[in-house]
Amino acid sequence: MSYNLLKGKRGIIFGALNEQSIAWKVAEKAVAEGATITLSNTPVAVRMGEVSALAEKLNCKVIPADATNVDDLTNVFRESMEILGGKIDFVLHSIGMSPNVRKKRTYDDLDYDMLEKTLDISATSFHKMIQSAKKQNAISEYGSIIALTYVAAQRTFYGYNDMADAKALLESIARSFGYIYGREHNVRINTISQSPTITTAGSGVKGMDKLFDFADRMSPLGNASADECADYCIVMFSDLTKKVTMQNLYHDGGFSSVGMSFVPWQPMRRDLMNIKTRMVISFMDDK
Ligand SMILES: NC(=O)c1ccc[n+]([C@@H]2O[C@H](COP(=O)([O-])OP(=O)(O)OC[C@H]3O[C@@H](n4cnc5c(N)ncnc54)[C@H](O)[C@@H]3O)[C@@H](O)[C@H]2O)c1
Repeated sequence: MSYNLLKGKRGIIFGALNEQSIAWKVAEKAVAEGATITLSNTPVAVRMGEVSALAEKLNCKVIPADATNVDDLTNVFRESMEILGGKIDFVLHSIGMSPNVRKKRTYDDLDYDMLEKTLDISATSFHKMIQSAKKQNAISEYGSIIALTYVAAQRTFYGYNDMADAKALLESIARSFGYIYGREHNVRINTISQSPTITTAGSGVKGMDKLFDFADRMSPLGNASADECADYCIVMFSDLTKKVTMQNLYHDGGFSSVGMSFVPWQPMRRDLMNIKTRMVISFMDDK
C-alpha cells in the first residue's frame, strides 16, 4: 500500500545489487511512495546487469561510482540533480564490504591493507558522500541521509570481524556530520541498525545462518526483514521525521535491548535427553 510519503521528492539510492539487497527494496518503495530516484553502484556491479533491470523497472538512471572515489561521488550528485531536476531530498548509503571477511582473515590476524579497504568502503565512503554533496549544496533543507549499520558496532559478534570497527566509524560520522549539516542547512543524518538479513553482504559473515536464527529467537518481534527495513527508511526520508537527526536507530525487533530471552518451558523428548538426565527424571517420576 502506498501513502505518497515521498511525493515530489528526489533521492539517490546507493548499493542495490540484486533482489535481496536492502537498497533494492528501498528503491522500489521510494518510487511507489511517489519519489523520483537515481541508482548508483560500482561499475562492476552495474556491468553484472541486475541493477540495470531494476532501473528499467523503476524508469530511473544508474550512475556508476566507486563510493571510495570522491570524483565519482561528486559526479553522482551533479548528474542526479541534472536528471531529477533539482536538489536531492534523500540519500541511502547501503554499502559494505570487508576483504578480510572475504579472505577469511580472523580479527587477530587482520591484513592491514585490507582493513583500510574495509573502513574506506564501508565507513569513510559515507563521509566522502556527504562531503561531496555539501560542497555542491546538493541536499535540500530538511533532506534526509541514511546509512545502514549493525549492532556489532556496540557489542561483539565474533564473525563480524573488522566490519564492526567500520560500523562504529560509520555511526560516528552520522553524528559528527549530522551536527554540522544540521546546523548549517537543516539536513538530517542518521544510521539504521538492521537485524541480520540474508543478502549477498550478509551471507559473507561467518556463521550467518546461526546468527540469523539466534537473533530471531532473541528478538521479541523476531528479525526485521529487508522489506521492513525499507519501510523504516521511507519513514525516515519523509517529512514525518523532520527533527530526527544524529541518531543510531535500531530496527531489529527489539534484539538490542534484550539481555536474556525467555522461551516458554516445553517438556523435553526423552529420546533426545542424555542418559544422565533420563536417569534423574525417572528417579523423580518414581518419587
Ligand atoms: N545483511 C545484513 O545482515 C545487514 C545487517 C545490518 C546492516 N547491513 C548493512 O546494509 C547495507 C547493505 O547491505 P546488504 O545486506 O543489502 O547487502 P548487498 O550485498 O546487497 O549490498 C552491499 C552493496 O555494497 C556495494 N559496494 C561494495 N563496495 C562498494 C564500493 N566500493 N562502492 C560502491 N558500492 C559498493 C555492493 O555492490 C552492494 O550493492 C550494508 O551497509 C550492510 O553492512 C546489512
